[in-house]
Amino acid sequence: MVQPIGMFDSGFGGLTVARAVIDLLPNEDLVYIGDTGRYPYGNKPAAEVQRFAHEIATSLVNDFDVKLIVVACNTAASVALEQLKDTLPVPVVSVIEPGVSALVQTTRNKRVGVIGTVGTIDSGAYEHAVGAADASVSLVSAACPGLVEFVERGQTSGAEVTLLAERLLAPIVHAGVDSLLLGCTHYPYLARVISDVMGPDVVLVSSGDETAFAVKEMLEVAQLQEDTSRVGEHFFYSSGDPEWFAHLGRRLFGPELSDAQSWIVK
Ligand code: DGL
Repeated sequence: MVQPIGMFDSGFGGLTVARAVIDLLPNEDLVYIGDTGRYPYGNKPAAEVQRFAHEIATSLVNDFDVKLIVVACNTAASVALEQLKDTLPVPVVSVIEPGVSALVQTTRNKRVGVIGTVGTIDSGAYEHAVGAADASVSLVSAACPGLVEFVERGQTSGAEVTLLAERLLAPIVHAGVDSLLLGCTHYPYLARVISDVMGPDVVLVSSGDETAFAVKEMLEVAQLQEDTSRVGEHFFYSSGDPEWFAHLGRRLFGPELSDAQSWIVK
């Protein structure tokens, strides 16, 4: 077996990033861990999320021999990225910088928004990253507690989720942004609802595609790419109920997610 790419999220959200990575790099193997047994991360103290991220990333290295780790969770990346980069023996790619780079390239009026979990928004990681990418861009951010829970239940449309989105997104609508970054990997599943609330003039930006390009570049730089003639294999693990993970995962991700196995914290 070749060395796979490792990827993790609190649950199903990172599958939006996995989709992009698999589509761009179909010759690479991938191991994905969804920590559905302990999700959501977004309302937990930073120290707890840092511990979860460390446990999963260590398991990806030690148990699955991954060659690179993608932190496909904004909440984990916003509080644990530096620590993971400092301690892991493999390159680490996050969703934050790739998303921000797409965001600052998309805006025309230089007013942008980001939405994410309470943990992500409170960490200030996006203020920092947008400021570093383009100091002339002004950012308005909003935490959106509750949206992740809808996705994890498989409820990605309907009156309830629309009502909550209208309430949470009101400050962003009023700020007159022309581009909105979905700063939580679960939110692309709600893109139609969010777009409906924001109106047709606001471009939604997700980090999945840009992150996949960052992974490709990182593999090339480190000379870790696999032979383009091979077909990659994909393995999905969940710390919660693997059957539910496979069931909802298949709906959200597509038929390649045929089954999921149990991942247990050591
Ligand atoms: N999908 C994750 C993120 O990008 C985590 C959501 C959560 O567990 O609260 O922030």
